[in-house]
Amino acid sequence: MPVPQRVNFIVGWASSPPQKSLIENDGISQFNQALSQILITHNSYIHNTMHAVEVREVSKVFKSANSQDFLAVDNINLQIYDREFFSLLGPSGCGKTTTLRTIAGFETPTAGEIYIHGQAMQNHPPFHRPVNTVFQNYALFPHMTVAQNVAFGLEMENLPQKTIRDRVAETLALVQLTDVEKRYPRQLSGGQQQRVALARALVKQPSVLLLDEPLGALDLKLRKEMQLELKKMQRKLGITFIYVTHDQEEALTMSDRIAVMEGGKLQQVGTPVDIYEYPKTRFVADFIGDSNFLTGRVVEKQQGKIIVLVDQQLPVLVATAEDFPAGQVVTLVLRPEKATIYRADCDVENSWPGTVEEAIYIGTDTRYTVRLTAKSSIALRRQNLHRDDLQRHKVGDSVRVTVPPESICIL
Ligand SMILES: Nc1ncnc2c1ncn2[C@@H]1O[C@H](COP(=O)(O)OP(=O)(O)OP(=O)(O)O)[C@@H](O)[C@H]1O
Ligand SMILES: [Mg+2]
Repeated sequence: MPVPQRVNFIVGWASSPPQKSLIENDGISQFNQALSQILITHNSYIHNTMHAVEVREVSKVFKSANSQDFLAVDNINLQIYDREFFSLLGPSGCGKTTTLRTIAGFETPTAGEIYIHGQAMQNHPPFHRPVNTVFQNYALFPHMTVAQNVAFGLEMENLPQKTIRDRVAETLALVQLTDVEKRYPRQLSGGQQQRVALARALVKQPSVLLLDEPLGALDLKLRKEMQLELKKMQRKLGITFIYVTHDQEEALTMSDRIAVMEGGKLQQVGTPVDIYEYPKTRFVADFIGDSNFLTGRVVEKQQGKIIVLVDQQLPVLVATAEDFPAGQVVTLVLRPEKATIYRADCDVENSWPGTVEEAIYIGTDTRYTVRLTAKSSIALRRQNLHRDDLQRHKVGDSVRVTVPPESICIL
């Protein structure tokens, strides 16, 4: 059976040979020291690279008798670390739930394999996997009290009554439901029902918790509160969370890392900062936050920077460590909050003249659209720090817009 973390371990060693010169040049005591250092490095390396879940080259085709087969998940690879809060993010129908269900064992992959803590799962039915799932529609038993709902999974395992009572009490305290333990689901608010569903999954003490849009039915304010609560709970318990959402802000708020999916494929995997600041594809730049896309040709290379001529008239300086040959066509991503708007007579580096087409006051910010060329305009936001700032730039005004070269991405 292949053991994924061992492969990484060998790669890690190969790239930095452990204290070789010390072993060769000095006496036996140094050799022992070196050996113990190697073992420490080895153990911490194994620990750091331990994957709670590995999704290896997984595809899922749904067969259909009367229409064409449908490829819902297309050759996905994911390595999710122990104790990580990992989110699957993407638009409706992109394959998030299907991926989660293959990890849980409710779907069998058409190709590829799932490993949990290094163990292949193909012969493990859902109830033999060390995972538990929280679904969007909580699916609570209406005729059972909160405590009975939470105890149900443990009763099925025939655990001693005292163990069940203790674990239910402990879990209800964790999700702050002790005072409503005798109520029925219909006597609870949406947020409380959500917590019962969470308690029911946590009481089984899974090492990996799968959550499929668990906050989808809650109103915005409650959802934001629950996001922070869930994140705190995950840290406290040290459990790996795999969290499905189509809400980019939710994913950015809660996750250690995010996998962005589209059309059954992975687009990018990274930390919230990676995904937002360094999107690798147009889809990611567009789906996560707002973006302006400007297309142009590289006309000049400087030390660590290039000049891109947009629409054959607008020189844009962009910082990059990559080597782009002159003449190459590139698409630039400019985030609205990284752009600044000035009066037309201001002299600012990397700025372009334009005309205000739209100015919308939204309280905290004013949103502007500035036309730069016949083909291109840029949307930007300016924070309303002072009341004097309001209406500083009106529709029809000539202005200058700038974005620092370091804040522009190249696709
Ligand atoms: N049992 C099934 N049979 C046929 N097609 C399916 C089945 N389950 C899912 N699909 C299709 O696979 C695709 C991915 O579905 P999935 O439920 O994984 O999407 P999702 O990303 O979770 O979307 P949502 O955000 O709407 O929940 C969709 O086009 C869906 O219609
Ligand atoms: Mg879904």
